[in-house]
Parts: sequence; structure tokens; C-alpha cells
Amino acid sequence: MAKDSLTITDNRTGKTYELPISYGTYANYGASIPASELRKIKASEDDFGLITYDPGFTNTGSCRSSVTFIDGERGILRYRGYPIEELAEKSTYLETAYLTLYGELPTEKQLDDWVWNITHHTMIHEYVKRFMEGFHYDAHPMGMLLGTVGALATFYPEAKDIKDETAREKSIWRLIAKMPTIAAFAYRHNRGLPYSYPDNDLSFTGNFLNMLLKTTELRYEPDPILEKALDGLFILHAAHAQNCGANAMRGAGSSHSDPFSATAAAAAALYGPLHGGANEAVLRMLNQIGSKDKVGEFVKEVKSGTAGRLMGFGHRVYKSYDPRAKIIKKLADKVFEVTGKNPLLEIALELEKIALEDEYFVKRNLYPNVDFYSGIIYQAMGFPVDMFPVLFAIPRTAGWLAQWQEMLLDKEQRIARPRQVYVGSDQRKYAPLKERGKESLVAHS
Ligand code: ACO
Repeated sequence: MAKDSLTITDNRTGKTYELPISYGTYANYGASIPASELRKIKASEDDFGLITYDPGFTNTGSCRSSVTFIDGERGILRYRGYPIEELAEKSTYLETAYLTLYGELPTEKQLDDWVWNITHHTMIHEYVKRFMEGFHYDAHPMGMLLGTVGALATFYPEAKDIKDETAREKSIWRLIAKMPTIAAFAYRHNRGLPYSYPDNDLSFTGNFLNMLLKTTELRYEPDPILEKALDGLFILHAAHAQNCGANAMRGAGSSHSDPFSATAAAAAALYGPLHGGANEAVLRMLNQIGSKDKVGEFVKEVKSGTAGRLMGFGHRVYKSYDPRAKIIKKLADKVFEVTGKNPLLEIALELEKIALEDEYFVKRNLYPNVDFYSGIIYQAMGFPVDMFPVLFAIPRTAGWLAQWQEMLLDKEQRIARPRQVYVGSDQRKYAPLKERGKESLVAHS
């Protein structure tokens, strides 16, 4: 049996170093060397030592995590060991959120308590409502969501007590419960509709639909198929390892800021079109293409670099079909039975067909990701495109909080503070205003 170590020879000095290799659950996936050991590798006495250079953290493990497992080559996603396909079929979003946060599927009693606690924290303070009323009528709902969730920190100062398990748990209930309320209020704000308050007799997604869509009826009754489909979409979006949003959550949380502020940071990261904003961008792209017969031309433009990227395609981790996209494609059929087919589906299917056969996309392992089909379903359900990233943020809150709590309880974690390779000027002498433009660089002695 080979020794679990790596031998490095520094050709600058001829010295040899031995670094330990450690493993996670799998020997062939996630084997790592401690980056700090590289600091011992120095060219001279006053050398700082080697660091790794990894823009975008493409090959850097920032933590040990047991929340989600992804094998991007084989298209595998598991939450706490459970395949995403099985959870999507058999679980509910709140049960999955519990699993994500606590590591085990809940017993009946645990699930009842959990659902009760989430259901009874959906209301928001009237001042939060007033805060939301201050946004411009056409404010992007994702901007409203992340601004308001940050503002919630001021309403719950006890959330700062992140070392207290009870305070942490209360923040978790509040965040998971209030995100749909804030999201729905943002939606109604854009439409000039009065905000609709939570209904505790409905399910998590049933209540969300109630807060979005209730008008004059005394009791809103969600369509069971749409309620279930939305719940399924929420399961698929609950967690996804160290993605940009989770990394922002951990980064902000690593300074021990409260979870509401850290969630605002994570939501800000999710907002971008390369991450959770991609489903919104997919819809805009499909509308821009306009019809099935224009797809070929559009793909040519993407390849030549004149039409930007094919949104909803490609993933940092998945180099095969995103398993969530496969499930979403099936969910779409159920939704369309109720809503009627979204005409953009035809364009999307054609786009997928052409791209999957095209050498450019095949060579780069670019497959549809979770965002490619989710937007089409959301649109068929009647959501405007700018609500799409918000619909992503609601369920992802569970994953963010699971990462946050795991980080806080992990003794190896410290404040997130990457190194840099400095490429700027050497020391310079400050030049008075009148003398600027003359030689001012002083060689470092
Ligand atoms: N369309 C066209 N070309 C693409 C695409 C795309 N969607 N994605 C990647 N490429 C090309 C790049 O131009 C690059 O080509 P090159 O090697 O000739 O330079 C190559 O594929 C590798 O791309 P990178 O940007 O290096 O890959 P990275 O892992 O950094 O990016 C990302 C991943 C951001 C998801 C990228 O694929 C992308 O921009 N996709 C479109 C946006 C999107 O759908 N985002 C949602 C991701 S899922 C999520 O966040 C929930």
C-alpha cells in the first residue's frame, strides 16, 4: 500500500518536502493536502513560502462538509447521503430542509415540531413591512429580498449570539419561515397589491402561493399540483455544496456576523446572472431568440462570441447533465398539464438538442444546468422573470444555514481571509501634487 503522502522537490533549492494526504468519505474524491504546509517551501530564509494560486477557487477545498455530495463527472447529487432523485420523489421541502440542517431525516414528532416552528415564524414585524413599502414601485424583488433580510438583523439583535444553540435555532426558524413572506411582499409591492398575510393552515408552498396570489376570496386554496411542483422545485434548490452563495454565507459568517446579515450576503451572491440570476437570463435569452427556427443561428452567434453565453448551460462542477435539470424536465410536464404549455419550451428543447450535438459544447462538457428549465416552469406558473432568483433564494436559505452552522461548529474554521499574489508597484515615494508626472518610482533597496 502506497504511503498517504506527497513528495515535492523544490528545484530552486533541491530540497524535498513531504506533505500528508488526507481523505473525506471517499478515497478517490476529495483527497487533499493542507495548503498551509506549502508555506514551508521557501527559496530563501526571508521567503514567505509558497501559496496556491486559484482564482475562483476551482480546485481549493475551503472546508470539510457533510451537507451535500456532488460528483460532477457522473451527475450525482446527494443531500446528507440521500440521492436527490429520491428526495424529489418522496420528501417535502420542509423535511428536506430539516435533513439538510440536522443531518438526519426527522422522526414524525421531530417533523411535526419543525413544521410547527417554521409555520409560526412566518409573520414579519409591521415595521419590516413599512421598510419594504419604502422601495420604489419597480424595485427588483431580489434587491428587495436581500435588503430586507439584512434589515431583519436589526429586529432580532439576539441573533448575534451565534454561540448559543437556542439563539441559532430561532434564527434558523425565522429565516426559513420569513423568506417566502418577504418574497411574496416584494412581488405584491411591484404590482401595487396589498400584502397578503400568512395562513398557518396551509403548507409551506401552499402558504407562499396564498401570500402571492390571494385576492378577494375569504380563503385561498392553492392548486395541489402547482403546490406540489413548487415544493419539488424547492427540494432541488435546497443545497449545493460550496457554490458562490454558500461561499458568501460562510465568508460573511466567518467573521461571526449574525445569520440575517450573512444570508443577505449569500443572497447578493446568488443574485448575479452567473449564479441564481441565470434562470432569469435564460428566459430573456429564449424570448430574444423568439422562435425554434432561429435557434441554429443563435447557437452560431454564441460560439462566435457575439451573443454572450448560452445561459442555463455549463456548470463549474457538473461536467455531465445536471441531475436536477433532469428532474425539472419531468416536473415541467406535470405543471404544463395545469397551466398549458409554455411556448418557450419548444425553443428550449431545440436549443438543448442542437447544443448537445455541437462540438463546441460537447468539447467543453456544457450541459443544461438547473436553471435551464426552472424558468420555463416558473413562467408557466405565472411568475414574472424578475421573481426567478427570489424563487431560488427561498429554498436555498436552508442550504446556506446548514453551511453556516457547520462552519460555526467546525473547530478548524477561522475567519475567511485568502492570500493574494501581489503584482502592483514596488515601494514608491509620495510625490507632491505639483511634481506629479515626473519620475516617482524609487527602486526598492
Ligand atoms: N455558453 C457558452 N460557452 C460557455 C458557457 C456557456 N453557457 N459556459 C462556459 N462556456 C465556455 C467558456 O467560454 C470557456 O470556453 P474556452 O475554454 O474556450 O475559454 C469554457 O466553456 C469554460 O468556461 P468557464 O467560464 O471557464 O467555466 P466556469 O466553470 O468558470 O463557469 C459557469 C461556470 C459560470 C456556470 C459558466 O458555465 C456560465 O457562465 N454558464 C452560463 C450561466 C449559467 O447558466 N449559470 C448558472 C449556473 S448553475 C447555478 O449557479 C445554480
